[in-house]
Amino acid sequence: MKLIRVENYEEMSSKAAELVEQQILGNDHSVLGLATGSTPLGLYENLIQGVKERGISYRNIHTVNLDEYRGLAGTHPNSYRYFMNKKLFGHIDIDLENTHIPDGKAKSVEAECERYEALIHEIGPPDLQILGMGMNGHIGFNEPGTKEESVTHCVSLDPSTRNSNARFFSDRDEVPTHAITMGIESILKSKQILVLVSGKNKAQAVKRLLAGRVSEEFPASFLWKHNRVTLIVDKEAYSLVA
Ligand code: F6R
Repeated sequence: MKLIRVENYEEMSSKAAELVEQQILGNDHSVLGLATGSTPLGLYENLIQGVKERGISYRNIHTVNLDEYRGLAGTHPNSYRYFMNKKLFGHIDIDLENTHIPDGKAKSVEAECERYEALIHEIGPPDLQILGMGMNGHIGFNEPGTKEESVTHCVSLDPSTRNSNARFFSDRDEVPTHAITMGIESILKSKQILVLVSGKNKAQAVKRLLAGRVSEEFPASFLWKHNRVTLIVDKEAYSLVA
């Protein structure tokens, strides 16, 4: 795992954008794996700037997102489809047809998981997968206890994850109880992985990740099994590492 230590959130975001743009400049037909949440917002702002100021084009780029809440339509303001359209896709020259996110409203969740996993393999695997990390070490919505062999599946969200994501909803009870997520195996198939971690509330998780012990109880630790992972971590998130 390559470690890049930066001062703060802003530096993490601009460094990450630099790496994403390098990927696009090297291959303008790249497949990008994308994440939602607070962490990649600064990265996405930088990527939007890259289109306007550095002439970066997403015309031939395909994207696959990690996850989506079960039960939310893409038009729901808390769905990850809505988030991606608002925070990134609506501001860059990407063809929306080339952007993929699980369908939270699909009638059969099993069929949707199968469809999505097949799609990742059909257009992908991602050349570069962006990941954030939960305080309990989750990646995507792969909570502690997820098997390394997992592919796209429906999960019951951990109470700590629902609490943490409640900040985006008007009421904690509105946070969906389930989500569709790429599995650990799906994520590890990506050619390259870029993990972004910022802030004091992630310091314990960074310490645990960097201890290097691979365990189902801390899903991000499976990233040690991949040979092209870069972790960009800011000062606060790194503050508990000896
Ligand atoms: C989001 C995702 C999650 C988040 C993680 C961290 O698509 O898959 O694993 O990356 O929950 O969330 P933030 O960035 O809000 O701290």
